Amino acid sequence: MDSSEIRKKHKEFLFPCVANYYAEPLILTHGQGELVYDSEGKEYLDFFCGILTTMLGHSHPRVNASVIQQIEKLQHTSTLYQNIPPVKLAEKMALITPGELKQSFFTNSGSEADETAVLAAKKFTGRDEVIALRHAYSGRSNLAMNLTAHAGWRQAGSTIAGIKHAHNPYCYRCALHLEYPACDLACATDLEELIQTTTSGKIAAFIAEPIQGVGGFIIPPKEYFKVAADIIRKYGGVFISDEVQTGFGRTGGKWFGIEHWDVEPEIMTFAKGMANGFPIGATIATAEVAESMAGLHISTFGGNPVSTSAALATIDVVEKDNLLEHVDNVGEQLIGMLKELQKKYRAIGDVRGKGLMIGIEVVGDNKTPDPGTVLKVFESTKAQGLLIGKGGLYGNVIRVTPPLNIKMKDIERAVQVLDKAFKEVS
Ligand SMILES: Cc1ncc(COP(=O)(O)O)c(C=O)c1O
Repeated sequence: MDSSEIRKKHKEFLFPCVANYYAEPLILTHGQGELVYDSEGKEYLDFFCGILTTMLGHSHPRVNASVIQQIEKLQHTSTLYQNIPPVKLAEKMALITPGELKQSFFTNSGSEADETAVLAAKKFTGRDEVIALRHAYSGRSNLAMNLTAHAGWRQAGSTIAGIKHAHNPYCYRCALHLEYPACDLACATDLEELIQTTTSGKIAAFIAEPIQGVGGFIIPPKEYFKVAADIIRKYGGVFISDEVQTGFGRTGGKWFGIEHWDVEPEIMTFAKGMANGFPIGATIATAEVAESMAGLHISTFGGNPVSTSAALATIDVVEKDNLLEHVDNVGEQLIGMLKELQKKYRAIGDVRGKGLMIGIEVVGDNKTPDPGTVLKVFESTKAQGLLIGKGGLYGNVIRVTPPLNIKMKDIERAVQVLDKAFKEVS
């Protein structure tokens, strides 16, 4: 099939909601490391990694080797039978996650991981009400869409009662029109009034991303989560940290995003980069919370030997190749280089990030969100051979998330491409 035929059949046989980037969608055929190739043989430097998922680059040899070895030995068991990789992985996760987090439940996606977390929180507390954040993204199950707070992504079949959305800590566009630190973290302290005025006062959980991903890489003030978690616990709820985007070293220096904010959650969720592109979701909880998940539970594919082997290999590479430190180091340099671009181009309103999770907020006059310019930057970077992502409520935040093992020369190349793209569209 040639490229035009593939595009034609994609349109004809896939749900129209399966939207793609670019005026003419890319058809990717193969990749190696930080590079990926399209059906015409054009090479791209991949600075979005699927969606922060091929975290060690495409076809990482050590991840592939572990998958091939496992698939030749045992491919599937279901959760009815024990096998070795998920047990090893659960033990490893108990070691690298903070605090009392200990027992894991494996699934296949971030949506399922969040579903499991909320269910566990409800069972543990015997309560039903949940607080999420505005601009959050939790996935595409009915519950996950109800937790999500972007109108465009909330196409849920039915509305679930008992979910309230608090102000998010989005300093660049503070909904309360305040400035940090003079604001005294009003967005966090407002949680108390939200609970008192819109819930029964007895909540099950607060679910939040330590850095909002789809929301546009929103970095909270460093004290936000401490204040928020204290309020949630005062009202009897548990804190679920959604690490689907921030987990496994993406934010540099730490395994998990929430560790930057010095708070220990009762539950954490994972997916995306955890197995470098193999389908996996996971929910880890304290032993007390895990114990409360009474009743029968299976996940046919959850914790399958192949995906859990890929996850073990991915974690091993992050560890042995000192990628937490590397991400911290190159991330800081990349943020610095993008801040230099910000000085050159008025369209760049904000550059923010942690590690290799970096957002460029594109604006017109008076910080007006400018998704049109983002689309133009996308076409230019594509033509120059660079893949980037986008997000934000208005689609005006460019998301830059190269593989964790990216080299400085590739970072320099990507910044040159972005420089040229902004020059072209300015
Ligand atoms: C923070 C967060 N949670 C949950 C999900 C849902 O994950 P999945 O698409 O694997 O269901 C996503 C997906 O983008 C996410 O970013």
